[in-house]
Amino acid sequence: CGITGYIGSGNAKDILLNGLEKLEYRGYDSAGIAVLNQAGVHVFKEKGRIADLRAAVDAGTAGHIGIGHTRWATHGVPSKENAHPHQSHSGRFTLVHNGVIENEAELKAVYLQDAAFQSETDTEVIVQLVEKFSKDMETEEAFVKTLRLLKGSYAIAMLDAETPDTIYAAKHKSPLLMGVGEGFHVVASDALAMIQYTDQFLELKDRDVVIVKKNNTVIYNLQGEVAKRDIYRAEWDTSDIEKGAYPHYMLKEIDEQPFVLRKIIQEYQGESGSLEIDDSVTAAILDADRIYIVACGTSYHAGLVGKQLIEKLAAIPVEVHLASEFCYNMPLLTEKPFFIFISQSGETADSRAVLVKVKEMNHPALVITNVPGSTLFREADFTLLLHAGPEIAVASTKAYTAQIAVLSILAYATGKAKGASTDLNLAKELGAAANAMETLCDDKEEFEHIAAEYLRAAFDCFFIGRSIDYYVGLEGALKLKEISYIQAEGFAGGELKHGTMALIEKETPVIALATQSYVNGSIRANVKEVAARGAHTCIISSTGLEAEGDRYVLPAVHEMLTPLVSVIPLQLIAYYAALHRGCDVDKPRNLAKSVTVE
Ligand code: G6P
Repeated sequence: CGITGYIGSGNAKDILLNGLEKLEYRGYDSAGIAVLNQAGVHVFKEKGRIADLRAAVDAGTAGHIGIGHTRWATHGVPSKENAHPHQSHSGRFTLVHNGVIENEAELKAVYLQDAAFQSETDTEVIVQLVEKFSKDMETEEAFVKTLRLLKGSYAIAMLDAETPDTIYAAKHKSPLLMGVGEGFHVVASDALAMIQYTDQFLELKDRDVVIVKKNNTVIYNLQGEVAKRDIYRAEWDTSDIEKGAYPHYMLKEIDEQPFVLRKIIQEYQGESGSLEIDDSVTAAILDADRIYIVACGTSYHAGLVGKQLIEKLAAIPVEVHLASEFCYNMPLLTEKPFFIFISQSGETADSRAVLVKVKEMNHPALVITNVPGSTLFREADFTLLLHAGPEIAVASTKAYTAQIAVLSILAYATGKAKGASTDLNLAKELGAAANAMETLCDDKEEFEHIAAEYLRAAFDCFFIGRSIDYYVGLEGALKLKEISYIQAEGFAGGELKHGTMALIEKETPVIALATQSYVNGSIRANVKEVAARGAHTCIISSTGLEAEGDRYVLPAVHEMLTPLVSVIPLQLIAYYAALHRGCDVDKPRNLAKSVTVE
């Protein structure tokens, strides 16, 4: 979900809607805004996209203060009733919320037995509590009293029709920032939403309460202690978040990969020309006896590749875990673990929950993220940035290759700090990979053909590979399923015969990667096994390893870095398969880019 809020002299309605459009990648099943003026509060909500909401908002609604919300359903189906903002019975209080209130039922039973609820959301309980408490106290006090009762996660912005000069905001576990401009203030789930209005932001911390006015704000915690927070400048600018001539953000972001890789080389290059990581990071890693990589989704897949890079280049054992599992099913840790969190957004609640636990246990943690100032970025001991620029499409592409590139630099620098001898010139090899990426991005037509040939009529598809190609296959399958809705799975080539082979029928598409010399023979044997059972096979191999009949041959890159290039055909095949099926490529159904609930 995403939140916006504005108070100043401008047209709140337009600012809120523009901001929500930029936040739409966080959720897009319903949306709403509330604008306050002399005539009272005007709430507009709609099921569907921001464009639907924009069409439903009364053009004449003027006002200089308001709040907005785009939703990814957790409690209650996507509907107009469940869309935010939610209002108290009398209509005096109007509120938007991101997060999950875990003790909703208990709060209703203790404080709100007589109240009638208009929605199925956990959010409504918050606004009803504020109204109840406000009968005996000032709004600010009622707001804080309510916050003290809440268990779970929240980012909140609230309006009170009787105090039209104030937005009441609060944050715990869910992301919220405050933006500062000349004569106005904004609140938003991330800086992207408001970057067109200001690039000056204040970080809010968990349990912060913020009283936002046009020209001043006060931040304090739930104990009433006032806090002072430094303003920082958000690095991204408006042009980074426009799609330009591209039909979709996903295609734009796929095309940006060679430039991102070159930027990473530049950012991590030391004076000697070699790629470097701050000594404090490598020293902390070398002090550990094992690395635990924790991540979700695409970032988890990058972590699998990272494991191989670190084990090969730095000879340190690495385990890779899904954050949502690790949190509740923690493996036995070694004596001196070092944690690496990989998160494009730096906001994923599952990953953050693990980070909080790890910090409680006093273990060191590094976060590799694309978003400076994000929650994980702020809470880790060490940080490495991806420098990929904003990634807007829900299906992650450039962040994945950026994560692998940064992990390769980390592995390389740690190996060097350990004294491992290597003749690898990583800067040169990554540079060559960037050139190869460009060649692939220029060859889109070919991948469009492959998508048409293999997937136009398909209802499932398998990706197979061995070793590092298996990991890339998992990512290829995720891309295809999330945007085209074709059932797709990635498998280790040797594992097919232990079960999955039963699914192979005549014409089942099987896409195989063959980029690793030491398993080239065995993956090709696996392709023969499925072909013998009728599969429609498509081999994507590396120059030097190709054989007759391969469908596509990738430019040669260092064998350890092939995921940087082999994933691009898979991203493009998924893109065109989704396009051919008329799917909404940038905003696939049921998904959100930044998942800030566990
Ligand atoms: C969501 C997105 C995925 C992403 C995952 C982890 O599910 O749809 O594309 O890989 O979250 O996100 P993170 O920001 O932590 O990398």
